[in-house]
Amino acid sequence: MVVCLSGFMGSGKSTLGRALADAQPGWRFADLDDLVEEKAGKSIPDIFREEGEKRFRALEQECLEEILSAAEDRLVLSLGGGTLTRSRCARLVRRKACCIYLKASENTLVENLRAVGTDGRPLLSDASGEDALRLRIRTLLEGRSATYEGCADYILSTDGRTGDDLLQELLSLPPFSGTDTVR
Ligand code: S3P
Repeated sequence: MVVCLSGFMGSGKSTLGRALADAQPGWRFADLDDLVEEKAGKSIPDIFREEGEKRFRALEQECLEEILSAAEDRLVLSLGGGTLTRSRCARLVRRKACCIYLKASENTLVENLRAVGTDGRPLLSDASGEDALRLRIRTLLEGRSATYEGCADYILSTDGRTGDDLLQELLSLPPFSGTDTVR
């Protein structure tokens, strides 16, 4: 089974995904953003700057198709924050993976993204200052929330929770506790 972690930028997909795979023997972690960068041979900001967002989304879809068509067992895949906005990607994830949405409120996202910075995230990097960052997050989140929820098999609220607490809850979900049917 492939388990995808979805959610907005800064919701903890990559950190939790890696911890989740590490916590379970036989599971492997992959990050869709890393696969895109490998395929393109350049960083995500460079792809956006030199080839545009449309090209980035096409690469993202190709990488998603490749990794999901391998039908690997015991794979945790962290998606990019915008992956599910392409309807073909959303359909693929629904069909071929179990999808867990890490749901964070606007306040949590502002806090997390201020802590890690917005470098490397072209959709946020020009939003300088907290007000601009908050507005950008709000606008994107409003347009994406329904998609995140609609694709999710499980939704975990991350507000006010520690990474360890979230990891324990993730590990108790059926895909990892062995009670789920294989997709
Ligand atoms: C994006 C999120 C990023 C990355 C790209 C676009 C988005 O991934 O795919 O910068 O559209 O939300 P993370 O969510 O891992 O930061």
